[in-house]
Amino acid sequence: MKKEIVVSGIRPTGLLHLGNYFGAIRNYVRMQDEYDCYFFVANWHSLTTHPDTKELKENVHRVLAENIACGLDPEKVALYVQSDVPEIAELYLYLNMLSYTGELERTTTFKDKVRLQPQNVNAGLLTYPVLQAADILIQRALYVPVGKDQEQHLEMTRNFADRFNYRYGEVFPLPKAFNFNSELIKIMSLDGAGKMSKSENQMVTLYLADEDDLIRKKIMKAKTDAGPTESNSVKPDYIENLFTMMRLVSTADTVEKFETDYNNCNVRYGDLKKQLAEDMARFIAPVREKAAAIQNDKAYLSKIIKQGADKARAGAVETLSLVRKAVGMNYS
Ligand code: TRP
Repeated sequence: MKKEIVVSGIRPTGLLHLGNYFGAIRNYVRMQDEYDCYFFVANWHSLTTHPDTKELKENVHRVLAENIACGLDPEKVALYVQSDVPEIAELYLYLNMLSYTGELERTTTFKDKVRLQPQNVNAGLLTYPVLQAADILIQRALYVPVGKDQEQHLEMTRNFADRFNYRYGEVFPLPKAFNFNSELIKIMSLDGAGKMSKSENQMVTLYLADEDDLIRKKIMKAKTDAGPTESNSVKPDYIENLFTMMRLVSTADTVEKFETDYNNCNVRYGDLKKQLAEDMARFIAPVREKAAAIQNDKAYLSKIIKQGADKARAGAVETLSLVRKAVGMNYS
């Protein structure tokens, strides 16, 4: 039986952190056997906010290496770079004619970007959701594993696909967000202010590239308080966050010990953080080391990038030929 198609894109801006791992990458890894997965580095998208490309190549290589180090298998999934699939750009062109400036200007992410970079409100920023739709539709995907912040882009993708199908004939299935239900784990930044992914402060985010000592230092500085004064009290969210991380990287016995201490009002946060720091360092170290080794192996990287492009282009060429025929762009 043919497996259902899944597409997701990763922007090559910034280092991957613990929130990315437990919120997204781990779920990609779980999908790779059951679905026909297309995961790519969205380097064209990065130009909308990062026009300087001096560090782009390094960042693309790092994101690929980190994803493989986390367990994505380039033999199972198509792991590729967006710009290696030129068919996406042509589909983007057709979809641009089916999207309205009004709806693009109303997009939440666009309005946010206008506020963040008023000096560079380029047309690519406005049509960011159209390019994203092209990424997804070029593989005729059914599912897109993304977080809540991408729901609007997915809804727009369905609208563009629906308009295309209505005007030119049925080519695209309408893709849906892939829902992990209880699997969606959110990790807050270590100062308790917002999601780890939103954090601008490097000292309150745990990156997959952090060295052991830095991990220890960051966790020891995490926000705590004087501790509970009534037994079995509800944990404030920054404390719950420490327990969330502990549940992910420590043994069940360790978690239970500190839960019991907390409930009996004799929890020692210093000890808790020391234990969490050790377990976290033990969790991150192999990922960091594996990612670094892959990133230094340029021959291997080059091989998997080519292999990924070939897999991604096979489906893309097929879709584009259907699109050209449907639109009437086939003259020979
Ligand atoms: N916009 C997504 C983000 O900010 C990245 C992305 C680009 C993407 N193209 C995609 C995600 C296609 C899913 C499918 O994270």
